[in-house]
Amino acid sequence: MTQRDKTWQDVVAVADLEPGDVTPVTLGTRDLAVYDARDGVFVSLARCTHGAASLCDGHFDGTYIECPLHQGLFDARTGAAKAAPSRVPLRMFQTRVENGIVQILI
Ligand code: FES
Repeated sequence: MTQRDKTWQDVVAVADLEPGDVTPVTLGTRDLAVYDARDGVFVSLARCTHGAASLCDGHFDGTYIECPLHQGLFDARTGAAKAAPSRVPLRMFQTRVENGIVQILI
């Protein structure tokens, strides 16, 4: 699929986000984590890349999300793995806010 084949999909209203925290959203078959970060809104798959944990249950400090299971750490802006045992980056989605709605390009 090329970038041109993708479309913007509504995810959640900004007003429904947990302020400064991570909000779980299911979109079709995808479980997403929506981060209300210091630098904007970011969206990743919710599942940790190390194991079967939802990052939505982790601790979010506004930039980094800590996995609740083994305390792996990810940068919520880029998905980069920042602390062991996490080594594989998160699957992030291109994200925008349109008319108060968080959208991702899929
Ligand atoms: S399941 Fe997330 S760090 Fe292990």
